[in-house]
Amino acid sequence: MKISVIGCGYLGAVHAAAMASIGHEVVGVDVDENKVKALAEARAPFFEPGLPDMLAEGVSSGRLRFTTDMSQVKESVVHFIGVGTPQRKGGYAADLRYVDAAIEALVPFLKPGDIVAGKSTVPVGTAARLASAVSKAGATLVWNPEFLREGWAVQDTIDPDRLVVGVPDGDQGDRAAEVLRRLYYPATDKGTPFLVTDYATAELVKVAANAFLATKISFINAMAEIAEVTGADVTQLADAIGHDARIGRRFLGAGIGFGGGCLPKDIRAFAARAEELGKGESVGFLREVDAINLRRRDRAVELVVSALDGSLHGKKVAVLGAAFKPHSDDIRDSPALDVAVRLHGLGAAVTVTDPEALENAQRLHPQLQYQSDTRVALQDAEIVLVVTEWDEYRKDLDPAEAGEVVAQRIVVDGRNCLDPVAWRAAGWDYYGMGRP
Ligand code: UGA
Repeated sequence: MKISVIGCGYLGAVHAAAMASIGHEVVGVDVDENKVKALAEARAPFFEPGLPDMLAEGVSSGRLRFTTDMSQVKESVVHFIGVGTPQRKGGYAADLRYVDAAIEALVPFLKPGDIVAGKSTVPVGTAARLASAVSKAGATLVWNPEFLREGWAVQDTIDPDRLVVGVPDGDQGDRAAEVLRRLYYPATDKGTPFLVTDYATAELVKVAANAFLATKISFINAMAEIAEVTGADVTQLADAIGHDARIGRRFLGAGIGFGGGCLPKDIRAFAARAEELGKGESVGFLREVDAINLRRRDRAVELVVSALDGSLHGKKVAVLGAAFKPHSDDIRDSPALDVAVRLHGLGAAVTVTDPEALENAQRLHPQLQYQSDTRVALQDAEIVLVVTEWDEYRKDLDPAEAGEVVAQRIVVDGRNCLDPVAWRAAGWDYYGMGRP
């Protein structure tokens, strides 16, 4: 099929490349010339495993093109909207200006029978608001939310858990759903659940899923707070409750909490939208979820301060991790980097290391010191913090070897990803999150 993808950020770039890899003819459109140039040369503008190969294959096959010129979408029959919906400045609601601008720029090039498929995460009610502009051009608007995880984006796009398409009532909606079912054929042929809903349900599925995941993480972090005053171990607690298939162990990782470009802003936007709908109390708990999450960063800072006997002034601190999670160079709302910045603010001499995110971190927080070599970052440190659970720290870091280069063997494990027994055996004072 001939398709276009408008917005070539995280979601759009991966979607465009993935759709080309399954045989579609794809044109990606973005207003950012640098991004378009990089993508057209098959260079991924961010770190995502598998994306560079997929881009290279797509571009060299001729099935994948990138442009800043919207008129290039004229031959496409399905147009995906994958632009960002960041948190509005000075408020919690989503900023929809990029979605509105994308639709406005696209409409003049639509033909009767085309399908516009929104993938951006939007407040419920957005698709209904945009539908008439699209249908005036004889095209059909559907909402097709995306559930990809950074770090697994390629796999999640080609082989998702489920596909959801919100369509308008009637034949046009049925037909559009059928076109998307065919478009996603590798997944739909093998029986991946394909759910056709109305607009509001599709929009809500997306924010409900992220709200649930955020709630699960904050639930276990709330248990960590209780564990901290009772001497219990939250990781054992998570293992034990996780054996109940109704609960499940995934996303029960207690630590410094969630960050990134999605979970934090999505729960805030959801709460703001619910307020607008007069149903603020229905998701009032999301404010608590947010508050618990942010308290975990305070807790990590507290642990460092108390481990250093109350004063950080001039203390050498090695921070292992800057990305909001491993397998990503994304530092948007990264708890890891936030903790590093706070320690710096308290007077510590902070050196941050990360396998992929240093360049981004340096751009945002030039006041911190950065070091790509873990061993050099550890040199003479008076305390070590692990705040992103990269394999480089979780698996590869040997506590005895690390102990040779630091000034003091104190480690704060902000992700509960190290083995306390091994670290203590190598002479370290080990502090976890919600662990004795
Ligand atoms: C999240 C959702 O998982 C995706 O399904 C969704 O499509 C995406 O947002 C989006 O809306 O675009 P992502 O932001 O890539 O994906 O990251 P997650 O894997 O969900 O992790 C989010 C944060 O939670 C990270 O900071 C991670 O370290 C933290 N986390 C995760 C925990 O603190 N504990 C856990 O047990 C799991």
